[in-house]
Amino acid sequence: MKPIQVGLLGIGTVGSGTFNVLQRNQEEIRRRAGRGIQITMVADLDVARARAVVGEGVTVVGDAREVIANPDIDIVIELIGGYGIAKALVMEAISAGKHVVTANKALLAVHGTEIFAAASARGVIVAFEAAVAGGIPIIKALREGLSANHIEWIAGIINGTTNFILSEMRDKGLDFEVVLKEAQRLGYAEADPTFDIEGVDAAHKATIMSAIAFGIPVQFHKAYVEGITRLSATDIRYAEQLGYRIKLLGITKRAPRGIELRVHPSLVPAKRLLANVEGAMNAVVVHGDAVGTTLYYGKGAGSEPTASAVIADLVDVTRLHTADPHHRVPHLAFQPDALSDLPVLPMSEVVTSYYLRLRVADEAGVLAKVTGVLALNGISIDAVLQREADEVGGEGATSTDLIILTHDTREGTMDKVLAELQALPTVLSPIVRIRKEELR
Ligand code: HSE
Repeated sequence: MKPIQVGLLGIGTVGSGTFNVLQRNQEEIRRRAGRGIQITMVADLDVARARAVVGEGVTVVGDAREVIANPDIDIVIELIGGYGIAKALVMEAISAGKHVVTANKALLAVHGTEIFAAASARGVIVAFEAAVAGGIPIIKALREGLSANHIEWIAGIINGTTNFILSEMRDKGLDFEVVLKEAQRLGYAEADPTFDIEGVDAAHKATIMSAIAFGIPVQFHKAYVEGITRLSATDIRYAEQLGYRIKLLGITKRAPRGIELRVHPSLVPAKRLLANVEGAMNAVVVHGDAVGTTLYYGKGAGSEPTASAVIADLVDVTRLHTADPHHRVPHLAFQPDALSDLPVLPMSEVVTSYYLRLRVADEAGVLAKVTGVLALNGISIDAVLQREADEVGGEGATSTDLIILTHDTREGTMDKVLAELQALPTVLSPIVRIRKEELR
């Protein structure tokens, strides 16, 4: 059978990896897919760079619409990124009856509902394994491997840049700004790292996993998003003394009244496997009622790891290309008419435990006052750490750090308690609050 023809939009890092791996492993991929898979057309604004990657024998154009208009192209790979032109091109490819493979988490987290509806109506596939955790086949695992389960929660380190920064902060005792500059110098962090360090990239990925795990529409606008920019080396050190590491987690959880969907720094017990995922690596823990806890680990970015996911999608699409659209795996794992309207909960309704650091005057009765406010609001204390004032502020210091770990409480209650504690005259600086996940 003649090879399936693929058009590639955007040939940067991931596009080049996709082209090279497809070439290198073409025979094995053909044996798996049942027919060859060939990139026959590439569009990139930098035509010369594209030509340098693909050599002769592949059509290279500067205008992506020429690829979409080519009737010989069966699958379009979108690797442009962002919500702008990428969205227009994906929608045009779908209307032209092409299957789409994309790594664009931002696009799907924000416009997924519209895109999947258009694809279903046109009978084409939109595949997106590469959009979450790069080379880790987490979409396949959630959508197919775990389909027996009532999924209860997912927690993942799904942004390599921030995990690299946090690992460096812990290893070297450095503050965020210093490590960020070093990460940029080494090429681990983008020149504009906003989406990574503010947690937006992780929230895009968590949003997509949430939809697939619970059969709800993609709802990025309801995700709680907090990045790592305010974390200090001091809290990483105290957390370590208490037996925890701080990780930026993407969490989605089934709660009694809805779905939690949140990204924020979290204390994780140091003995959990997830706490030991270091550097730019990614890992996702999924807990299902039947299977229990499962862990997926690997590279979440990079040329060939991400290409691995893009090509797995190409193989899937090639196998299913001629199948009746109703017998394909649904985009979001659940049949489109069986999606649930379970609400995504506001952050005030989320239940979790907390690390609090208070800079307090080192005088009689302070600890009693603080614990009194917690007790009055029904918050139970799990552990307390107080350093001698001299150790924190140097000889003769009159203030010290009081660190409290709490048991579970509602975030809304904790907000109220923090306002009360902050108003105490003996609390001398803004209180640091970091959420804590036991991941049991
Ligand atoms: N910028 C992402 C990360 C990779 O640092 O993990 C692509 O999603």
